[in-house]
Amino acid sequence: MSANKSIKNVLVIHGPNLNLLGTREPEVYGKMTLNELNDEIKQYAQKKNVKVWFFQSNHEGVLIDFIHDNRTWADGIVINPGALTHYSYALRDAIAGVGIPTVEVHLSDIHKREDFRKISVIQPVCIKQISGLGKESYLKGIDVLIEKEMKV
Ligand code: DQA
Repeated sequence: MSANKSIKNVLVIHGPNLNLLGTREPEVYGKMTLNELNDEIKQYAQKKNVKVWFFQSNHEGVLIDFIHDNRTWADGIVINPGALTHYSYALRDAIAGVGIPTVEVHLSDIHKREDFRKISVIQPVCIKQISGLGKESYLKGIDVLIEKEMKV
């Protein structure tokens, strides 16, 4: 019989340069600011009875510390690692090391851009990668975590 465990606390982590959303290459990432994006994620999560905890940093080690510091109580992670996606083995190891179900998300479609963006070193330690759906990538990321936990 499945346990029907419910997911309660999700870390939503934004990596380097995502603090500039709204003005950063709007033709690629849209005009929504990070605060507006977080508001939409929060509203969506509330409807699903999930509490979201937001964090953004431009620094690899600070992102890793945040994951470590919250590892004992977080039920899931939705992370947009920004450019760290493509080369950060340290971030990958942090995600693997804490063992929290993690979804990798991207606003743009990383598979339809420069070749270096097609590679994610993070994806193998995530339960799913969602790319190219704008803010919906994050919302679907929450759904994936909910669906995964329901099957535990
Ligand atoms: C991004 C894609 C990355 O390649 C890029 O470095 C980013 C944003 C996205 O959300 O589309 O910073 O993760």
